[in-house]
Amino acid sequence: MGSAALRHLHGSFLRPRGGPPELEPGKVTVVGSGRSFAWTPAAGSLLDVALAAGIALRSGRRVGQCESCAVAVVEGRFAHLVPVEGEQGACLACQAAPLTDLTIAL
Ligand code: FES
Repeated sequence: MGSAALRHLHGSFLRPRGGPPELEPGKVTVVGSGRSFAWTPAAGSLLDVALAAGIALRSGRRVGQCESCAVAVVEGRFAHLVPVEGEQGACLACQAAPLTDLTIAL
């Protein structure tokens, strides 16, 4: 997901009621790896930025359907670009943007 998709996320899917979510740069920590990376709204999805940081996350077609990129969210908040059904405490990294500093487990 590129920055255009994140602008769409910011401007469309999550706009109602409380206003758009604040997309601020943040830190993503990967539990058990000793690794972390910086995420910025312009850099893309959680998956895009993790891969750019050299952290090998699993992925498939990257359209939010196969769940190959699912990661457990240990701490922090995130938003998905597309409506996602699934368990609480997990996100699809190809469609996710952190809303706070995030701790994930692979
Ligand atoms: S890569 Fe398939 S849902 Fe993310």
